[in-house]
Amino acid sequence: MDDFRSLNVEAVAPMAPLSAQPLSDAARRFGALPMPNLAWTPEVERETAHLYEKVKAVMPSVEWPFHAPYVKAINDLKKVRNAVILAHNYQTPEIYNCVADVVGDSLQLAKLAAESDADVIVQGGVHFMAETSKLLNPNKTILIPDSKAGCSLAESITAADVRLLRQQYPGVPVVAYVNTSAEVKAEVDICCTSSNALKIVESLGSDRVIFLPDQYLAKNVQAQTKVKIIAWAGACEVHERFTAAEMLRYRADDPSITIIAHPECPPEVVAVSDFAGSTAAMIDYVKTKKPKRVLLVTECSMADNVATETMGVTEFVRPCNLCPHMKRITLPKILDSLVYMREEVTIDPALAVRARRSVQRMIDMG
Ligand code: 13P
Ligand code: SF4
Repeated sequence: MDDFRSLNVEAVAPMAPLSAQPLSDAARRFGALPMPNLAWTPEVERETAHLYEKVKAVMPSVEWPFHAPYVKAINDLKKVRNAVILAHNYQTPEIYNCVADVVGDSLQLAKLAAESDADVIVQGGVHFMAETSKLLNPNKTILIPDSKAGCSLAESITAADVRLLRQQYPGVPVVAYVNTSAEVKAEVDICCTSSNALKIVESLGSDRVIFLPDQYLAKNVQAQTKVKIIAWAGACEVHERFTAAEMLRYRADDPSITIIAHPECPPEVVAVSDFAGSTAAMIDYVKTKKPKRVLLVTECSMADNVATETMGVTEFVRPCNLCPHMKRITLPKILDSLVYMREEVTIDPALAVRARRSVQRMIDMG
């Protein structure tokens, strides 16, 4: 670790003079704290060494002095605030491995949010995930480090669109992928995630189901069920860019390669893959099947995060696309969240009752 010391990194400046900004409601309730010292010191090095061990497979040692002061400050502040950090599998390795208390796919995060006894939940993920946490924890303070962390799927449909669909297809049940706003969740019958979409669609006892907003997840579910799916035309801007031709080129280069894809990819991509599943199912596949070489057809950070746990077993080929929304969440912004108690996620209580019913109905399906 000599290279750390030779850098002699001094205090890393906080992102912006936030102390000049007005206090958030949550800061008024909890009180804002002083910004911790962010110097790279022997104490920080010692106290974070075990965490660097977790990421060293994917992070050059010269980078650690920039992350470690934030990692230590965030982990200290979590105790002061009685806070937990929920991190989606697409969060960067230093968040996923070094400050998160819980990691997982959308369904796992939703369930674990419901079980948490922390006062404060910081969502390492995008806005719809933070809203889901708020729906399931109405009395807790939910913070998202950057409220602009959106999602092309969630932005593709509004509550008014759902009401029009209901007029167009009277009596047909509506299933919403959790990648939707609370307003949309309030209009639908039940939510689903990529790991339970087929089960939810088939549970409704209807020969037709409206499925929104992901046209590709809808088509991938359609390929497995006799229920007729009426799909909304939304798409994930990350997964829609993968093509079957690209996958086949990798396969031609190495016929033994294992290809695993997220079901937000177009059906032609899923068709040439060996496995498709939620981000948690993809991680599980790699850990249990231990393929020698794997092509992870999903967001970039997934491969980094799985690689930290499967080093020396599986070689990753990464045709990855970055999710710009997920990447808005950074260690400095998480620290700001805990210091200044921002940005708080709030949902109108009457709307929340209706939206919660759709999420809870999904969770109750098991
Ligand atoms: P998962 O539920 O599979 O984690 O997917 C969420 C998501 O946003 C993928 O793009
Ligand atoms: Fe939304 Fe796609 Fe980003 Fe997931 S990867 S948050 S679906 S834009």
